[in-house]
Amino acid sequence: MSATTDPQGYAAGASAAGARAPIDAASETEPLLKLRGIDKHFGAVQALYHVDLDLPAGQVTGLCGDNGAGKSVLTKCIAGIHQPEHGQMYWQGRPVHIRSPRDAAALGIETVYQDLALADNLDIVQNMFLGRERTRHWFLDEDAMERAAAATLKSLHVTTVRSIRQPVATLSGGQRQAVAVAKAVMWNSKLVMLDEPTAALGVAQTKMVLELVRRLKDHGLAVMFISHNLNDVFEVADRIAVLYLGRMVAHDRISAFDRQSVVDFMTTGGSSREVLAADPDARRN
Ligand SMILES: Nc1ncnc2c1ncn2[C@@H]1O[C@H](COP(=O)(O)OP(=O)(O)OP(=O)(O)O)[C@@H](O)[C@H]1O
Ligand SMILES: [Mg+2]
Repeated sequence: MSATTDPQGYAAGASAAGARAPIDAASETEPLLKLRGIDKHFGAVQALYHVDLDLPAGQVTGLCGDNGAGKSVLTKCIAGIHQPEHGQMYWQGRPVHIRSPRDAAALGIETVYQDLALADNLDIVQNMFLGRERTRHWFLDEDAMERAAAATLKSLHVTTVRSIRQPVATLSGGQRQAVAVAKAVMWNSKLVMLDEPTAALGVAQTKMVLELVRRLKDHGLAVMFISHNLNDVFEVADRIAVLYLGRMVAHDRISAFDRQSVVDFMTTGGSSREVLAADPDARRN
């Protein structure tokens, strides 16, 4: 089943989304994915309050925020793991309802979680095709899978892996991360979300992953990059979005920020510095 577009929006979120001008058709100036008024709570915990976010194609959006700010919950809402109670998502300008990871995959949304979700005992090719194995005459088409995996790694300039038949358990952290990213892009992805991809990595490995993120952008993908490390964010991001206790408190091009203002937004929800407000629609005009 593919993701369903829903011109009505979420029934419960119609008022939040309805306050804005309706968009009838996909438009080239539209961000690939647009979120408006996303609310998500777990029992008494309100994890996201009316979150707005634009993820344009060909750009890296750095999503920043302190522990518990709601970054992973937001990622999982986009990935179809959590269902928001209110709000609307627009994919290429069209209202869309992502009800499951399968819906997200059908749209071209891939997520690389911090724990990577790779199977240690399987090799690189098996991991990249896990759950989507290619078959030919009822048998696994190992050659075709191997060729596709090798071509994807090559297109991303991942050259440090000795053999694509190497079990993932024998890879370094950076190499594992590279395989996870390659797996994400192999499936005609349009949006790749990376949740703390550099958290466990050393300097050289981090550099490799950041280089990979730039390549995804050069391939025209939208990238959402979550990191606590502002050096990494400033190195790859074109835009920055900051969550503070579940609210989007800043959302703009990177040139509107300096490191101190991002830290201010992350730790207090505001900044005395000259930074534009967190309303992407107001700024586009
Ligand atoms: N499945 C869940 N059930 C209940 N509460 C949850 C669940 N997932 C997240 N939360 C709560 O939602 C809030 C946001 O959590 P989230 O994991 O999105 O934070 P984060 O910004 O990713 O933090 P970190 O930087 O530590 O990864 C937290 O208060 C967290 O306790
Ligand atoms: Mg998290």
